[in-house]
Amino acid sequence: MPDTGASDAFVAFERVQKSYDGETLVVKDLNLSLPKGEFLTMLGPSGSGKTTCLMMLAGFETATNGEIKLDGVSINNIPPHKRGIGMVFQNYALFPHMTVAENLSFPLEVRKIGKSEREKKVQRALDMVEMGAFGGRRPAQMSGGQQQRIALARALVFEPELVLMDEPLGALDKQLREKMQFEITDLAHRLGITVVYVTHDQTEALTMSDRVAVFDDGRIQQLAPPDELYEAPQNSFVAQFIGENNTLEGVVKEIKGDHCIVQLDGGETIDAKPVNVSKVGERTRVSIRPERVEVDPQLGPDAHTLKATVKEFVYMGDIFRTRLQVAGNSDFVIKTRNRPDQRRLRPGEEVTIGWLTEDCRALDAG
Ligand SMILES: Nc1ncnc2c1ncn2[C@@H]1O[C@H](COP(=O)(O)OP(=O)(O)OP(=O)(O)O)[C@@H](O)[C@H]1O
Ligand SMILES: [Mg+2]
Repeated sequence: MPDTGASDAFVAFERVQKSYDGETLVVKDLNLSLPKGEFLTMLGPSGSGKTTCLMMLAGFETATNGEIKLDGVSINNIPPHKRGIGMVFQNYALFPHMTVAENLSFPLEVRKIGKSEREKKVQRALDMVEMGAFGGRRPAQMSGGQQQRIALARALVFEPELVLMDEPLGALDKQLREKMQFEITDLAHRLGITVVYVTHDQTEALTMSDRVAVFDDGRIQQLAPPDELYEAPQNSFVAQFIGENNTLEGVVKEIKGDHCIVQLDGGETIDAKPVNVSKVGERTRVSIRPERVEVDPQLGPDAHTLKATVKEFVYMGDIFRTRLQVAGNSDFVIKTRNRPDQRRLRPGEEVTIGWLTEDCRALDAG
């Protein structure tokens, strides 16, 4: 989904900053806009500012600077319960003394919806998360996954246009988590709900989202659809944080258009695609994905080859995972598909490896 200008955005953060102590900024200069119906995930290491951003959007924290807009209107001075936002926070528990039905009815009572209408909406929301028969239970009488689904139903029962979720599946086992990932995205797309989702699980982010905002140190490092994030990381942090990645360190020797020449610390010279290097003499980290490397390459003229020594060869069924020593890096990992023509390598063996120049990205030195 293309980035939208602030004008047609449904949710917009404009130059938002946040400091809790008046000194350090934990959100540094956030500009982010979402069109209606988008599923956007904030992904990043612990402490990078994800929850803080969600709390400001929800209205539980105020921005130190900048503006947050909903449907073009500033909501800086609107209290949380008047923003009409559904929320599922990991520690935003169900009311323990109320039944499931009462928990779901509550946001409707607050909105002055009549009894018969409330009952209809509660039942519909419960059916939606396949918990139709659980209206009379109390939270303590349900499993973690069932409570999580009720929390989701409660966030959706008043048909909000925007739902915020902070690690909503963190407490669930893998199987239930994957089922709920599907249920949430399916529901959001069916109802046209805009979702801002927070996780530190990159697989969850890549599989669920229209776009992912990668956070580090209070800033968005890259905002892009999942495939672009994986295939075209814009800096070393994103390349390392998303998926598995090989790096070779060196110095930029020459830049001409969409090619550059890098002298690796191991002595070899290679061609790369300059991504965020700009000057000759600059140190760089060249980044290559494990599945883009070929052994005994037959890639044609726009390929680059290097000699490597096999350190370890692991048979994994569908793929072979080989660790190599290449240009001073003894932890260079490649993944090859298990095909009849793919030979199995032995530790100590010398091989030639290669890749296309466009798969070899010269990034900042980190
Ligand atoms: N109420 C608070 N008072 C003071 N500092 C806070 C408060 N809440 C968060 N912080 C600080 O702000 C920074 C960002 O925290 P935040 O909770 O937004 O991170 P996060 O990306 O959600 O991390 P996690 O993945 O661990 O949940 C951290 O350095 C944190 O210590
Ligand atoms: Mg958090």
